[in-house]
Amino acid sequence: MSGLNDRQARVSTRSVCVRGGLYTAFVVSLVLGFSTQQSAAESYDLPFPLGLKKELAVIPDDNPLTKEKVELGKWLFFDTRLSKNDSIACASCHIPSLAFTDGQAVSTGIHRQQGGRSAPTAINRVFSSGQFWDGRAATLEEQSVGPLTNPIEHGFGHDDEVVEKLRRIKEYPPLFQKAFGSGISIQTVGKAIASFQRTLLSGNSPFDQHTAGGNEQALSPEAKNGLTIFRGKALCFTCHSGANFTDEKFHNLGVDWDRDHIDLGRYVVTKNPKDIGAFKTPTLREISRTAPYMHDGRFATLRQVVEFYDQGGIANPHKDPLVQPLKLTEKEKTDLVEFLKSLNGEGWDVTPPTQFPQ
Ligand code: HEC
Ligand code: HEC
Repeated sequence: MSGLNDRQARVSTRSVCVRGGLYTAFVVSLVLGFSTQQSAAESYDLPFPLGLKKELAVIPDDNPLTKEKVELGKWLFFDTRLSKNDSIACASCHIPSLAFTDGQAVSTGIHRQQGGRSAPTAINRVFSSGQFWDGRAATLEEQSVGPLTNPIEHGFGHDDEVVEKLRRIKEYPPLFQKAFGSGISIQTVGKAIASFQRTLLSGNSPFDQHTAGGNEQALSPEAKNGLTIFRGKALCFTCHSGANFTDEKFHNLGVDWDRDHIDLGRYVVTKNPKDIGAFKTPTLREISRTAPYMHDGRFATLRQVVEFYDQGGIANPHKDPLVQPLKLTEKEKTDLVEFLKSLNGEGWDVTPPTQFPQ
């Protein structure tokens, strides 16, 4: 099955897609360098691990990757001064050792306040345009500044407060100047953080070594059987499709519909009744490292997730017809989980900075 769905195809034609070899990359960066007057910046060659598809990367024309932006974005991602009271960084909820999640059902932000949704991984974001469980941020740049003015995350009252605070840290303005040829603005903060996030990749997993690399030994017989079920009987691949295991679309599985409080999900963004209770299909890469699962973090184990699908999700008037009782055998469930565990790969190994701009 093709990994390129309509939406990604549309997005990638107007994005920087380095399709050819080094020469193309050179020409592309040269052209962009001139057009955005960033000729001083060093282009950043994103090394896509086995199984990932360069041509699906979504990198907007006005924010090409450069070494300077990625470095700056990394500092910003880990810097707790990027919160109202110096207590919270992006990395407080997207912790590198937990594959950039926080291990909690729902996240805890500034003043120990809790939100209503689970923190998804920040890995392989380069393959999506819409971000968040409900896709409310149309770009990763927009997503990258959203949490800063969220009263229960980083706690700033306004974008200007973020910018003012960064301007007062003497070594930040020259870094922005170097990366963007301009001063600090909420746009350049977003572009820098998005650039860093685009370098967090996961590929070359046992699944990739088996499927893209042709190494029959990379998967156990159980995981191979699990892959067959994933693609066939269990219908998982209809939604968790393509190289990043997502169709980038929104579906209602009935998560929440057994509780008093129902999160309306995508509907809040589109106001389209067909989106009631629909959430973005998440990537399944690194999935055994990112428990608990679902937008409300209700499942502690992958086995529980598989049981949920086996029962056909939770009934409600808006449930996706693709989610139906599966009648999996115990062995099929076990093998499916074995397959999911084969999606742990590499490309997101980041050492958190120990020193920050002063
Ligand atoms: C208090 C915890 C917390 C902090 C701090 C935080 N996040 Fe998140 N992050 C979350 C939660 C919870 C969600 C899901 C929210 C939603 O979808 O409505 C999320 C969603 C995301 C997503 C979307 C992933 C996807 O698959 O759509 C990205 C990317 C992300 N955060 C990056 C960041 C960055 C960058 C920062 C810092 C500017 C940050 N986060 C700060 C908890 C946090
Ligand atoms: C109809 C589309 C669809 C099908 C079919 C589907 N999924 Fe999902 N999957 C989703 C969506 C949407 C979510 C998020 C739902 C939510 O939180 O409300 C999700 C969530 C998950 C999660 C949790 C991810 C996380 O980061 O929390 C796992 C694991 C998962 N699915 C595995 C599977 C497996 C295994 C199958 C096959 C048995 C499957 N899915 C079938 C759309 C689908």
